[in-house]
Amino acid sequence: MSDIEQKVKEIQEAAVTAILGADGLDRLNEVRVSFLGKKGSLTAVLKSMKNVDPEDRPKVGKWVNDARAEIEARMTEMKNRLDAEKMARELEKEKIDVTLPPKMKFIGHSHPNTIALEEVERIFVGMGYEVIEGPEIEYDDYNFTKLNIPANHPAKDEQDTFYITKDILLRTQTSPVQARVMEKGKLPIRMISPGRVFRSDEVDATHSPSFHQIEGLVIDKNITFADLKGTLDVFAKELFGPETKTKFRPHHFPFTEPSAEVDVSCFKCGGKGCRFCKGSGWIEILGCGMVHPHVLEMCGIDPEEYTGFAFGVGLERIALLKYEIDDMRLLYENDIRFLKQF
Ligand code: DAH
Repeated sequence: MSDIEQKVKEIQEAAVTAILGADGLDRLNEVRVSFLGKKGSLTAVLKSMKNVDPEDRPKVGKWVNDARAEIEARMTEMKNRLDAEKMARELEKEKIDVTLPPKMKFIGHSHPNTIALEEVERIFVGMGYEVIEGPEIEYDDYNFTKLNIPANHPAKDEQDTFYITKDILLRTQTSPVQARVMEKGKLPIRMISPGRVFRSDEVDATHSPSFHQIEGLVIDKNITFADLKGTLDVFAKELFGPETKTKFRPHHFPFTEPSAEVDVSCFKCGGKGCRFCKGSGWIEILGCGMVHPHVLEMCGIDPEEYTGFAFGVGLERIALLKYEIDDMRLLYENDIRFLKQF
C-alpha cells in the first residue's frame, strides 16, 4: 500500500472515530471542518496532488473521494442520530399529560337570589303569568296613595322611606307596579314583578336597606279567594316540594281586603317542629289578599265587574329558606367562597 493510500485510510479511520465520539451537533460540525473543510486533513491530501505522479492522480483522487463519501455517510448517519436524540429530549421536556385533571378557570356563578328568582319566575310563567318590571325610583303616589296607604300611615314615616323629593322616593315595595299595570287598563292581568326595594333599615341578619321582592297580581272577572289559595298552594308545592302544605292567617295590608299571611309547612321537619321552624312546624313566606275595591277604582278598574288577588314575596327570604342560609348579609357580601356553594 502506498504512503498516500495509507494516509487516506488513517484520515478516514480518525474521522470515523471522531464522528462516533461526537457528543452533539456542534462537535460533529467541528469534526466535519477538521476533515473535510478547506483546511481539513482530507482536503490537504487533494491539495498535495500536484506532488503526485500524474499517472497516479486518478487513483489518489478515487481514494480521497471514497474516503470522503464514507466520512459523509457516517456524518449523515450520526447527524440523524443526534437530531433524533435532540428531538426526543425536547419532546420529553414538553410532554403534556392529557390525562391530568385541568386547572379549572372559575367562570362566575349565579347568585342565590338569581337562582331563587329564576325558580319563582319559572313557576309563575308556567301558569301563564307575564314578568313586568317597574321603576326603582317611584312617585309617592304609586308607592303609597294608589295602594290605599293614606298620608298618615306609619309606613310613610320618613324612618322607613328614602325620599328623594317630597313626591319622589325609592320604592319601599314592588306593589306600585300593580297600580302602574292596572292603570294601563289592559285586562285581564296575570303578572309578577320582581325587583329591588329600599327601606331605611339598619343592616342585621334579617334586614338590609336594599332587598328584593316579587309582586304578583291577577285581575279578571270572577276571581275569588279560592283562586288565590289554589295559586299560592301550587307555588309553595313547586318551590318547596309536593308534600308542602299552606296555611292562610288573617292579616292586614292596606291594599288588600281580606288580607292574609301565608305559612308553609316546614320543609325541614315536615311540620313536626324543629330548630329551623322554631318549633312551630310552619314558616311564613309571603303576604297576600284580594285587591281592595278602592285600589281597583283608583287605578280605573270597575270593582263591580272585576276582582283580583295580589301577593308579595321577599326574594331574599325565599333564598335564605331554600338554601338554608342563616344570615342575609352573606347574600350581599359576594364572597366567592360562599357564592360558589350554590
Ligand atoms: N308590599 C307588601 C310588603 O312590602 C307585601 C305584600 C303584601 C304585597 C300583600 C302584596 C300583598 O301584593 O297583597 O310588605
